[in-house]
Amino acid sequence: MASDLFILGINAFHADAAACIMRDGALVAAAEEERFSRIKHWAGFPAQAIGYCLNEAKIDLGDVTHVAVNRSARANFLRKLAHIASYRPSPHLLLKRLRNRNQIAGIADELGALPGRPFSGAIDYVEHHLAHLASAFFPSPFREAAVVSVDGFGDFASAAWGCGSGTALLLDGRVLFPHSLGIFYQAMTQYLGFPHYGDEYKLMGLAAYGNPSCRQDVEQLVALNDDGSFALDLKFFRHHREDIAYEWPGGEPVCGSLFSQALVDALGPPRSSDSPIEDRHRNLAFATQAVYEDAFFHLLNTLQRRYGHSAVALAGGCAYNSVANGKIKDRTAFRECYLQSAAGDAGGAIGAAYAVWHRNGARAPHMTHAFWGPSFTDTELSALLMARRAAIEAEGCSMRHIDDEHELVAMTARAVADGLVVGWFQGRMEWGPRALGNRSILGDPRRADMKNILNLKIKRRESFRPFAPSILREAVVDWFTRDDDVPFMLQVLPIRPERRGQIPAVTHVDGTGRLQTVDRASNPRYYALIEAFYGLTGVPMVLNTSFNENEPVVCRPEEALDCFLRTKMDVLVLGPYMVRREAAVCNS
Ligand SMILES: [Fe+2]
Repeated sequence: MASDLFILGINAFHADAAACIMRDGALVAAAEEERFSRIKHWAGFPAQAIGYCLNEAKIDLGDVTHVAVNRSARANFLRKLAHIASYRPSPHLLLKRLRNRNQIAGIADELGALPGRPFSGAIDYVEHHLAHLASAFFPSPFREAAVVSVDGFGDFASAAWGCGSGTALLLDGRVLFPHSLGIFYQAMTQYLGFPHYGDEYKLMGLAAYGNPSCRQDVEQLVALNDDGSFALDLKFFRHHREDIAYEWPGGEPVCGSLFSQALVDALGPPRSSDSPIEDRHRNLAFATQAVYEDAFFHLLNTLQRRYGHSAVALAGGCAYNSVANGKIKDRTAFRECYLQSAAGDAGGAIGAAYAVWHRNGARAPHMTHAFWGPSFTDTELSALLMARRAAIEAEGCSMRHIDDEHELVAMTARAVADGLVVGWFQGRMEWGPRALGNRSILGDPRRADMKNILNLKIKRRESFRPFAPSILREAVVDWFTRDDDVPFMLQVLPIRPERRGQIPAVTHVDGTGRLQTVDRASNPRYYALIEAFYGLTGVPMVLNTSFNENEPVVCRPEEALDCFLRTKMDVLVLGPYMVRREAAVCNS
């Protein structure tokens, strides 16, 4: 144990607080705090995620050599001072910023409050965007690549880029506060009546229903610079001159309104969250996505010409814009693209750890899967089902232990093919926001009514938001117009026009799908399930949505069982156990 070098990576006092543990450059465990606290996007100190990571590595804090944090108070410090001098923010705002700075500086105290032997190593503060770049490049398969980070803000910057080569990563340029593509997209998301942190997905889904008629109106918000960067027309925004709330009372981040009266004057009244969505809103969503893509590809194309690499690795909150990511090969000269599963701020935890490791260490292994979270033994699953037997039977459910994996997979595939909604809980929890076959709810992609069934039974989400397919890797070429690896569901690709009618539940209104490609090595049981479904139906994919109901994705089996019992899900597969509502009879 003494010769091992353990790095504990942390994203703290920021949305999507998270932790990871790395042993001699290899990731051992990683998880977001929200999965333990059960509060979406939980910000603050990730004490439970740290506890889980240490437990998974079978160490305590006394064994940790470095704690790596994805924030640095020193980063871009002179530019911060220059901003304060020019904009003269209110004393209240300055105090708030100082408080956050003190929280980051107080990480040693937070660590000191954790149980076990005390931490006696070094704390390394890594600039926010350097951590993002590291989280994208070091786990990628590329020896050399352009590396790009785009998000809201972190350490006074909103974007950064550079080159990765082997164990070296050069941060070559930044876009500094107050200009930010993330803020642009978030402000438009708020304007269109989606006020919650992380609601940008909704705008992205809505954009497919619009047309370009509002494009010029939105184009005036973002200017493209000759050096590849971008600038906001600040008169449409408030964040640079007013005290915008960004707090996490009770853990969930809350962000105040980012757009100014000038935007309302230019675009008309903002939509309130409970009013109907009209064509104007759809068209503004379309325009927002189009303007984002123009700025994103302007940056990528400039960097591709500057560096000459054929590969790009991406991170930052905007790297969750899977629609834009899916167009990289069409709109740039990059031929390969990599995003790890937690491309946003949670990923800063592994980015900070990678940055510290690669100062002296050998290149980390390529991250090919997202299964870095907690798992539970069959004995634990069995004990839970026994303890909750009365509640399960009261719901009219049967329970069965299925020893033979082949039979388990065949029965589950049959249930999906019969149109049942299946909760699928297996192995280690996913790292990052997407459920990728271990904490998933599955459905039949062939059924046009499956979206409504899911929304009625469990999800109750906006009807315009699409569901996604998990597809056998070998079958991608037959169903999509491009044959790409998309293991983490972070790219949207066009579905072949002749196939769209066969899989209506996972075909978005514009003919695209946010696919997850599944290979046998990364998740053999999930692969076998989709293969069995393929055998039954001739369709090599299942509908996959996250296992949750207006809450963070389930982590523990208790949460999966509770979600199953309180919703109208038909079947729950918990490891080798199948719980089934009696009304949910299969045809087999
Ligand atoms: Fe970030």
